[in-house]
Amino acid sequence: MANTEKRGGFGGKVAAILAAAGSAIGLGNIWRFPYITSENGGGAFILIYLVCILFLGLPLLIAEFSVGHNTKKNPIDAFATIKKGWGWLGAMGLISVTLIMGYYFVISGWTLNYTIASAANSIGGDFGAFFTDFTTATWKPLIYTYLFIIANHAIITSGVQGGIEKASKIMMPVLFVILISLAVYSLWLPDGREALVNVFTPDFSKVTGKTFLDAMGQAFFTLSIGMGAMLIYGSYFKDGTKIAGTAISVVSLDTLVALMAAVIIFSAGVENESGMQLAFVAMPKVFSAMPFGNLWAALFFLLLGLAALSSTISMHEAVTSYFVEKRGMSRKHGARLVTLFALILATVASLSLGDWSEYTVAGMNFFALLDNFTAIVMLPLLGILTAVFVGWVWKKQDMKAELTAEGGVDKATYPAIRFLLRYVCPVLVSVVFVFGIASFIKSLNTPAEVETVEAETPEVTLHIMGGSEREDIDIENIERVKLTVVETNNN
Ligand code: TRP
Repeated sequence: MANTEKRGGFGGKVAAILAAAGSAIGLGNIWRFPYITSENGGGAFILIYLVCILFLGLPLLIAEFSVGHNTKKNPIDAFATIKKGWGWLGAMGLISVTLIMGYYFVISGWTLNYTIASAANSIGGDFGAFFTDFTTATWKPLIYTYLFIIANHAIITSGVQGGIEKASKIMMPVLFVILISLAVYSLWLPDGREALVNVFTPDFSKVTGKTFLDAMGQAFFTLSIGMGAMLIYGSYFKDGTKIAGTAISVVSLDTLVALMAAVIIFSAGVENESGMQLAFVAMPKVFSAMPFGNLWAALFFLLLGLAALSSTISMHEAVTSYFVEKRGMSRKHGARLVTLFALILATVASLSLGDWSEYTVAGMNFFALLDNFTAIVMLPLLGILTAVFVGWVWKKQDMKAELTAEGGVDKATYPAIRFLLRYVCPVLVSVVFVFGIASFIKSLNTPAEVETVEAETPEVTLHIMGGSEREDIDIENIERVKLTVVETNNN
């Protein structure tokens, strides 16, 4: 059954850049980058990350754009058109992006709640408790997640130009203005400047195999590499759009936003916060000390939500395009199906943080599983395969024609890009992938972090055997205590 709806496309070059930058810039930049950076010790990680962006991310982004632009097809048909039998690579990307949607929508939903709660000044004084109470609740996070999914759905069904392009053209400039004001403000704080110097000073003693994997995974994640999203946007580029130039603009904007987000968050002096709650706990704390702090906080979370929305639009579009073009569905029906998948996965992911947190695989709940599996396994794998496809499988003349003619790569730069895609990307990504997986598995075997449980009833009093005279125990500094319940008698 052929679909008779006309294939969509972007109006011009600026639209192409804004939409692709919208896909790239998202929770990855503002929520994920700062916390991964702080977990990996700061400056040294940022340097490795920048190298990954430049030598791996940029060529892969160019590769993905050109596959889309060359074929003007959905991810599965695009690969299969260039080389018969390679459609599975597109399918792998679409499956991965669906899994990412599963948890990405949940965090996106959080930004809505935080925007509203900040504006209403109802977060209260204990930011950590607010975060935990909210994210582990049953209904509240689900409702915000659903609202977000519905907004996303509405934009997708409005089409490529009327929905995606229009939304990007409004959201991206707003996002930049908010971000720049916040960055300037944080640099203006004296404490902020000091905190920044600390974070950005490289400390190479903290670099391990996992640091490289994290840096590479983050570089691929932030550029939406290998998932079909950039491919489908490339397929919507108008003829004459310069692919390399667009990719360079996207990479520059994306990196700028990530660094600004790190500046804003770290200027708060948040060494003690880490993990996925960093942005959600640190930011309200920073703002609470400012005049009209709650409004600044609301602005920040609005920004985070907008950035997330322009990314989820591209995830959704990649999968929707498959149902429309390959399964002959109308745009409306295709989009509904994708939204349904997103609703189901996001529901499980959200509940896995609270009610269903006891169901785990290798110590990870469903939410963490989706995040780790896509970032640590699928992203590098898709990166390697995309590089191999464009560098080795795609006929040399055809690839060269796409890149040098319409693609706007001059004849001198082309060999460099080809070299990066043929040799540097596959080899480097494979090495980092193998070592990273090894160290990840090792980290799973070492005892997991002890969860902090706040006891309600009954209260437990801790008696240290040997009494208070024991000098080898520094009671003030005991961080965790292993508690074994032998028998309970309170039913
Ligand atoms: N780049 C997005 C961000 O930084 C996240 C992302 C990862 C993504 N893979 C994607 C977005 C695929 C769209 C499509 O937040």
